[in-house]
Amino acid sequence: MPSDARILVVDDEPKICMMLRTALEREGYAVETCLDGATALERVRAAGYDVVISDIRMPGLSGFELIHRIKEARPRTVVVAITGHATVETEVNALRCGADDYITKPFDIAKLRRVVETSVRSQQLLGGTPDSAAGVALRTPTADAVPAAVAALAAPGAGAAQPLPLPAAAQDLLESNRRLEQRVAELITIQEITQAVMAELRLDRLLDTCLVSVGAATGARCVSILLYDAAEECLVVRARRGRDRRRIVGERCALGEGIAGWIAQHRVPLLIQCLDEQPVFRAMARNDGYDSGSFAAVPLAWQERLLGVLCATDKAEGRPFEERDLRLLLGVATQIAIAIENARQYESLQQNAFNALRTLADSFEVKGSFARGHSERVATYATRAARELGLSAEEIETLRQAAQLHDIGNVAISETILGRSGPLSDNEFSLVREHPLRSERILQSLGFLDAILPLVRHHHERWDGKGYPDSLKGREIDPMTRILTLADAFDAMTTPRPYRGTLDRAEAFAELAQCAGAQFDPRLIEPFRRAVGGLA
Ligand SMILES: [Fe+2]
Repeated sequence: MPSDARILVVDDEPKICMMLRTALEREGYAVETCLDGATALERVRAAGYDVVISDIRMPGLSGFELIHRIKEARPRTVVVAITGHATVETEVNALRCGADDYITKPFDIAKLRRVVETSVRSQQLLGGTPDSAAGVALRTPTADAVPAAVAALAAPGAGAAQPLPLPAAAQDLLESNRRLEQRVAELITIQEITQAVMAELRLDRLLDTCLVSVGAATGARCVSILLYDAAEECLVVRARRGRDRRRIVGERCALGEGIAGWIAQHRVPLLIQCLDEQPVFRAMARNDGYDSGSFAAVPLAWQERLLGVLCATDKAEGRPFEERDLRLLLGVATQIAIAIENARQYESLQQNAFNALRTLADSFEVKGSFARGHSERVATYATRAARELGLSAEEIETLRQAAQLHDIGNVAISETILGRSGPLSDNEFSLVREHPLRSERILQSLGFLDAILPLVRHHHERWDGKGYPDSLKGREIDPMTRILTLADAFDAMTTPRPYRGTLDRAEAFAELAQCAGAQFDPRLIEPFRRAVGGLA
């Protein structure tokens, strides 16, 4: 649109200033540039501009501060914030400081043109020239403000005072309102995804949450997350959702290989609306085996470190991904990266704590040499039986952890008692029978092993209800605990104990069968024998 509007571009990168100046002068605007916030503020105070386009991250006076002070000095100057670090917080902060609009690097020139044109029209609409500090504040109209503004323009005589014809002016305001409402909806979605992701500390669940929420927000039927393996310097598919045939969990790809590898290597977001118009990416997509014609994908990075790539493909009904989809992915990418980093650190802390407990449990087993390796063998037997019985991966992992730590409460019992070959006194026997509760108490205090607590507490319960500590009976005992009980007993039978001899495996299986329905769940005996019988 032809205009004599004066625009000031503020960015500490001369190349950006030059690029924006060239693009806007081509549109007929008078453009000046400035490389720092303090000088820009002086010039705004002295001269006044219709529009100021300012970077956020600048040395000295920051973009946030500059926007705030411009709005104090010349409230009717339209300010557009620009940044290369697009996050929800940045955007919200810019708007809070008074920015009227917001664009991100790398620039989409068409969008830049639209934003500036709308800003200039808004400026002209409410007065035409920048005001003084005493003037009336101009902000891009809010959802509430727009109807009132349009009504005011439609009032008798109002149009005559305006430099633009009424329909165009009203149209501008309605368009601004529409864009603002759309942006608010996007920010709400980003905030919802961020909240859901940040609430999850377990990496698997966190990634699942990402896949579901990103799929729902963008309409992508296939979403995948590849995490960067720094040791191998490659990407690994860590989670996927949808009918993306190419993305198999565990699959690796080198940096630069395929579309995800390209994004990881160049650390830039990618929006392909029509693959046929992008020969380079079309070739990559063919090699990857994609049949989707449109992609939106972003790198996941935190503190300059690459953590992975988030890819969305195959939008519903064959529609192409749009700019708003990429904006949404960019809006959540940093938060997802932070959440992944947090989850990894949390898992690492948990693993360290778990390893320390295992060391403690092992030291007890070494102390009472009759039981050396007991917990690890029980874990092997129990997990094999669990697989045979078709338990889920999560249940198998719970069972493994419970088996490894089920007797940790024995650390409180003296070696003399545990190694006694003769009969125990009543007091000593009571002490031994307390070890499931002691184990539970030790693990309870850590707070992240809640899933294994019932297994640990009840691993000496019996099918007939004559066990301890709670005398649970039959199906009152959790199925995983029944497996643990069986594995525990099998290892006790097949390893030397001070109070009785050792059975060979055949004798031990016969003993288990003998105790079916009394000590053990009868339906588990045969699957257990199948799972464990082949072990050396
Ligand atoms: Fe035990």
